[in-house]
Amino acid sequence: MEKRKARLRDGREVTLRLLEPNDKEQLLGMFTRFSQDALMWSNPPYDEEKISRWMGGAETGLSIVAVFDNNLVGIAAIHEYTRPRKKGTGGMVIYIHQDFLGVGLGTTMTKNLLSIAEKKGLHRIGLWVIEDNKAAVGLYRKLGFKIEGLLQDAYFGTDGKYHNMLVMGIVFPEN
Ligand SMILES: CC(C)(COP(=O)(O)OP(=O)(O)OC[C@H]1O[C@@H](n2cnc3c(N)ncnc32)[C@H](O)[C@@H]1OP(=O)(O)O)[C@@H](O)C(=O)NCCC(=O)NCCS
Repeated sequence: MEKRKARLRDGREVTLRLLEPNDKEQLLGMFTRFSQDALMWSNPPYDEEKISRWMGGAETGLSIVAVFDNNLVGIAAIHEYTRPRKKGTGGMVIYIHQDFLGVGLGTTMTKNLLSIAEKKGLHRIGLWVIEDNKAAVGLYRKLGFKIEGLLQDAYFGTDGKYHNMLVMGIVFPEN
């Protein structure tokens, strides 16, 4: 993907580009600045080990970031599975910093990422999302992901309760 500008609904402009190998410190920094609320339905910790794994996305060209004022404010990434029986399939994650929620950044990043994945020939992108994460479920549905299944009480929330997890996926039949 070429570096590109994206105008958000509140008028701010962010730059979208591929994740680069020297983004690791910035990415770690972004997660330390996330509020508890923004990470309410996620799967912490976002520590050095996890971020190091994600940096593999800088090699595959399937991770994109949003930059505002020289700071990373969002990441959307697909991990392509490498085993032969999982050929052409991958899993997706997306995280937007709380100062940029609800203004279209998630939509723009996901659209761009799906388009990269389709062009690279991926056949299926899957993900797991907590049923109560309304913003995420709404975003994925809007962009064509289907709910494929439900895992009962598979997630223990910060509210001390169990929550259902949805399995969602999108298929590019031509690939
Ligand atoms: C999920 C997430 C990526 C959405 O990003 P975003 O930039 O806020 O989303 P957008 O502004 O592009 O909105 C996309 C769609 O999401 C839905 N949505 C967004 N906020 C919503 C909310 N508070 N309630 C219900 N639906 C909502 C809507 O369908 C919206 O489409 P619309 O604007 O056309 O109505 C973002 O909330 C996030 O990063 N959350 C924290 C991390 C996380 O939970 N990631 C998902 C893990 S599976």
